[in-house]
Amino acid sequence: MRAVDLIRKKRDCGVLSREEIDFLVSGYTRGEIPDYQMAAWLMAVWIRGLNRAEIAALTEAMLYSGEVLSHSEIPGKKVDKHSTGGVGDKTSLILAPIVAAGGLTVPMISGRGLGHTGGTLDKLEAIPGFNVNLSLAEFRRVLCECGMGLIGQTAEIAPADKKIYALRDVTSTVENVGLICASIMSKKLAEGIDALVLDVKTGSGAFMKKEEDSVRLADVMVETGKRMGKRVVALITDMDQPLGRLAGHSHEVLESVEVLKGRGPEDLRDLSLELSAWMFFLGEKAKSVEEGRRLAEKMVATGQALEKLRRGIRLQGGDERIVDEPERLPQARFHAEVAGQTSGYVSAIHCEQLGTALAMLGGGREKKEDKIDHAVGLEFHKRIADRVEKGEKLVTIHYNSDAKLAEAKTLIASSYVVSESAPREKRPLVRRIIGA
Ligand code: URA
Repeated sequence: MRAVDLIRKKRDCGVLSREEIDFLVSGYTRGEIPDYQMAAWLMAVWIRGLNRAEIAALTEAMLYSGEVLSHSEIPGKKVDKHSTGGVGDKTSLILAPIVAAGGLTVPMISGRGLGHTGGTLDKLEAIPGFNVNLSLAEFRRVLCECGMGLIGQTAEIAPADKKIYALRDVTSTVENVGLICASIMSKKLAEGIDALVLDVKTGSGAFMKKEEDSVRLADVMVETGKRMGKRVVALITDMDQPLGRLAGHSHEVLESVEVLKGRGPEDLRDLSLELSAWMFFLGEKAKSVEEGRRLAEKMVATGQALEKLRRGIRLQGGDERIVDEPERLPQARFHAEVAGQTSGYVSAIHCEQLGTALAMLGGGREKKEDKIDHAVGLEFHKRIADRVEKGEKLVTIHYNSDAKLAEAKTLIASSYVVSESAPREKRPLVRRIIGA
């Protein structure tokens, strides 16, 4: 078998066999197939698509590129959540401590920023000292001691996804149902979980802009998880505007802490509690989602979730003082404002552009080896349906280098659509639930 023939086969709309997909994934993971051939194959997949059998083969090839963990020595259910990615989407940092405080184990294996979206690992690394590269033995120790652990793929866990993910990020091959399903499900099925809640984003800041595409992605992922014997549901949630008021790594850690203190923006709090509620339900800590929600609210109100976050940060080598002294997080040196150019109501937001602007300022990567600037961030002052006056602040930019500031400002200004009247209907945060 030769990689070049499999690239051509997909380019010409062919269907790859399980053996052919295994050949590509294992060859690339071992370093025998170079980046340029894998990138070409990914682009062919992006354009031509994968059928269900190919998606299943790709997911399993990536899953078995490493170890599949079992945490049978830890009593109780192990549950996780994964989002398909958005702007300001920081719910993992909030729900992991809530759910661990409520008595379930959360062995979370996350990814880095991808395209215009931020990644949990990069956000965690904004916390001074926080180590996302634990060995499996350390990961188990942290899980046993505090019920939650947040790490990246290691050489042992879904190493194929680690390499392919980094390549997709810089080759514009992210937004594809098969590639997203294989990436997410290979990591999650390797974690040793009993149940999984998927947060499938839809809208202008999501990889899937149309709700029907998000539903298709959710269906494929739920089916994959159930086939592997897991309890899985997917919530289709709104990403037509940023989640919360802050985006950027330090900023998102700060906002997550605010929610765990019982404050923070309503949309972020609501979604974090809803996802936690489903985790409690699937993990059999609650008899219904409503009961799960009450448990989640209690974990926040009593401070138990915040305490769990402190402990989790400490156990992974991070400086837990950031919880009470946020100035210990990396801070940007400068700030600039983007103001409204006309008066009216915000009728739409091109949310992906906001994520791209943030990446441009240093909050994302253009090349695999780029370093992230954890201090840069965007503060959003207006949401859809808000009144805005000409000259009023829309976004505050926190930045360190002005190399791309002008370009980022233009992109941000053009992200807001201001109309004479407010949109009539308010779209719900959770649009649909798949697999319940
Ligand atoms: N999150 C992942 O882990 N992988 C994707 O492909 C998209 C979002």
